[in-house]
Amino acid sequence: MAEEPRHPFLHGLSKHRGSPPTVVVIFGASGDLTARKLIPAIYNLAHDGLLPADFYLIGFGRKSIPDAEFQKIAADAIKEFSRREMSPEVWAHLAGRTLYVSGGYDEKAAYDRLSARIASLENEIGQQLQSLFYISTPPTVFASIIKNLGASGLATRHLRQTTQSKVIIEKPFGKDLASARALNQALTTEFEESQVFRIDHYLGKETVQDLLVQRFANSIFEPLWNRNYIDHVQITVAEEVGVGSRAGYYEQSGCLRDMIQNHAMQLLALTAMEPPVSFDPESIRDEKVKLLKAIHPLRLMSDSRPSDVARAQYAAGMVGGKKVPGYIAEKNIAPASATETFAALRFSISNWRWQGVPFYLRSGKRLARRVTEIAVRFKPTPGNIFAESDRFNLAPNTLAFQIQPDEGLSLILNAKVPGLETRTQPVKMNFRYATTFGSNTPEAYERLVLDAMIGDGTLFIRGDETDRSWQLITPILEYWAAQGRTGMDTYAAGSWGPASSAALLATSGHGWREP
Ligand code: BG6
Repeated sequence: MAEEPRHPFLHGLSKHRGSPPTVVVIFGASGDLTARKLIPAIYNLAHDGLLPADFYLIGFGRKSIPDAEFQKIAADAIKEFSRREMSPEVWAHLAGRTLYVSGGYDEKAAYDRLSARIASLENEIGQQLQSLFYISTPPTVFASIIKNLGASGLATRHLRQTTQSKVIIEKPFGKDLASARALNQALTTEFEESQVFRIDHYLGKETVQDLLVQRFANSIFEPLWNRNYIDHVQITVAEEVGVGSRAGYYEQSGCLRDMIQNHAMQLLALTAMEPPVSFDPESIRDEKVKLLKAIHPLRLMSDSRPSDVARAQYAAGMVGGKKVPGYIAEKNIAPASATETFAALRFSISNWRWQGVPFYLRSGKRLARRVTEIAVRFKPTPGNIFAESDRFNLAPNTLAFQIQPDEGLSLILNAKVPGLETRTQPVKMNFRYATTFGSNTPEAYERLVLDAMIGDGTLFIRGDETDRSWQLITPILEYWAAQGRTGMDTYAAGSWGPASSAALLATSGHGWREP
């Protein structure tokens, strides 16, 4: 029997990764994220045969441009940003299914045009299409888009069938508790929770997913994963870059909103949550929410007891051998800006597993190097027999999940130095992704777009998760807003952060690692 010809879009698919016929509609089609991440992600999915045979991409934006011009913009984005070279065969197929609809985000008629275009595609192929609406616009128009998706009937197309509509919403998901609640309310008025996919791109990173595999597919960690053996945990999300050209956004955001409330707290939740009863989206998200609920409100006043938070702005310094200006001297930053570019926090978790074990989180721009790491520091051995002499160089056992770059996992142990007397030295056992698996791993957005198409919400944030994390973060934002610049520390660009960050750990007898 002759082999069936392989469809350009459908060759690498394993059964459970199959999505129904789909049209992805990107709101904010001319934005930076669309060019850098979304279009290349879709192209790479096409390249790997992971898109359904009937797949369409529609860009939606205010600018009026013909389909052909949007196809050219998409091609340029793929050439510049895709992790794979563009294959003429794959692109020809995808280009023919790349369309554009123009209109205002608050213009009801534009959504009717979009609806008609999707219906005419369905007529052409004689099948229903799942619509996946990707909202990647500035947050000021989120509510308007959601409302119009509802009013035009796009939100409820084919409801409760495999082709029901879905919506992916980009960050920032609110700027505080009240605005996040309003956004959740807007979303759940027009969509059911199962249709909503709130993005945190850190969850799409391979190493973040590996954290779940390491914790729950290996039996050696669980017996140690608690207050009896773990002294504390340090989560670092450090960046070398400064504010760059994003002053308009960053001045309204700051590090706490931009990196801690979402990315760093997700890392915390995955590290500390209880084992889920199964590997399904709701079981995993239930455990994350339970963990977030067990976190104490952070202490803000430094009167009798030390505060749990520190913030700072970068001052001029050296990064990568080059002189760089301080935050205040960057383009479009207010001279009296009270926006923090660094934050460090101590979280206390009140449950049987973690009572008394501090979880420290820090993030900042213009730090010594770009690195994201979760370091689990174990307690010292009881009654250490190697303690009494300087022959014994001992380090605390540390298990470090290196999320990026140089992805991997390392364990610090103490070993005997070969020789005729007993000397000790810390040694590192390393697992590196690049060496074991090679380095061409999918980008976070590839995994996330595919998961949303399939309807798998495991790597997306549920409404109650955003609510709980904003409940913890909002009082800190309000406190800092009331303080203005009072208490704002500084750190030299290219350093590991301000003195107040070191002091935060010193109050409980700890010190930051230099990852
Ligand atoms: C984004 C923040 O969410 O994450 C940026 O808005 C930050 O300020 C970026 O630079 C970091 O992402 P990554 O994947 O490069 O660590």
